[in-house]
Amino acid sequence: MRLTIDSYDFFLVNHKKNRNFAKYSSIHKNTTIMVDYKKIGLVNTREMFAKAVSGGYAIPAFNFNNMEQMQAIIQAAVETKSPVILQVSKGARDYANQTLLRYMAEGAVEYAKELGCAKPQIVLHLDHGDSFETCKSCIDMGFSSVMIDGSSLPYDENVAVTRKVVEYAHQFDVTVEGELGVLAGVEDEVSAAESHYTKPEEVIDFVTKTGVDSLAISIGTSHGAYKFTPAQCTVDPATGRLVPPPLAFDVLEAIEKKLPGFPIVLHGSSSVPQDEVDTINANGGALKAAVGIPEEQLRKAAKSAVCKINIDSDSRLAMTAAIRKHLAEHPDHFDPRQYLKPARESMKKMYIHKIVNVLGSNDKL
Ligand code: G3H
Ligand code: 13P
Ligand code: ZN
Repeated sequence: MRLTIDSYDFFLVNHKKNRNFAKYSSIHKNTTIMVDYKKIGLVNTREMFAKAVSGGYAIPAFNFNNMEQMQAIIQAAVETKSPVILQVSKGARDYANQTLLRYMAEGAVEYAKELGCAKPQIVLHLDHGDSFETCKSCIDMGFSSVMIDGSSLPYDENVAVTRKVVEYAHQFDVTVEGELGVLAGVEDEVSAAESHYTKPEEVIDFVTKTGVDSLAISIGTSHGAYKFTPAQCTVDPATGRLVPPPLAFDVLEAIEKKLPGFPIVLHGSSSVPQDEVDTINANGGALKAAVGIPEEQLRKAAKSAVCKINIDSDSRLAMTAAIRKHLAEHPDHFDPRQYLKPARESMKKMYIHKIVNVLGSNDKL
């Protein structure tokens, strides 16, 4: 029988117990950790999230797969004086190699210092960890934060695997993001025909039993550049653009009431800028009916307990639009540096815009 807990005091007491359990757990004795993330200048999310929740802003979590994305993210974070989460998905690990990405993150810390930031706050985070083993391997090689995504599992299995990751991670002061509720579309290997919003009545029980440091929730966002079908949208008569349905802020508010001040995470938060889509289509692309989350809704979310906002697709769009435009204008160019330079500039501009105008994490170092 599942225990139902509906008291925040009870949650707090148990949350502290979970931390102590992890600290004194016997797993510690049998483990050899290869790299301590603190020694390579990375930080975990704990303090960063506490400040973001109380300050009414959100930390950007940008996915990276290559050097140009990493450079653009770090340049943007340094110029805006923002903390930042560099996140690594399964697709990124398959494409670029987990070890290489982890060393790039170590390089990112030194790069930020070279750009003039004396004390950068950079988290290296595993995005959508699919098993305890994946999370452990990232923790062992120096990641400072991991997500265990058990959202597609039955509730009790999600609790069990998440708790196992937390027990391991907390021994090394690595923070853990769990997920409750299923996003629409394809969530790495998690498929769902439709979104299942997070059930507010489950969040205290989940957070208490697992000891997670933050919780990803489902309130209507989804991954990729096609977040809604045209049938789910209305049409703006002035522009002819698709207008998506609003996020379920009532669900977010109900979750905040259950867990006051607890760090909440939003995945699938790209806005799919229509000017980038237009540039891609004007230069040989064929992105039809791509639609994202309006930025004013993300701004509203960032002012609440939502303290981490995940953005990947907007970087892909910025990069692809710049490359297509450059190659269309310079058909004689074949040196990748010629078209990757404007691509990197375009991504940097987009990251700065998100930090300053949407998430509000600038000037927080
Ligand atoms: O969660 C989804 C991210 O956008 C990562 O996607 O696995 O294709 O890199 P990916
Ligand atoms: P987008 O596809 O909306 O950028 O979401 C990215 C994400 O949630 C990564 O975990
Ligand atoms: Zn995601």
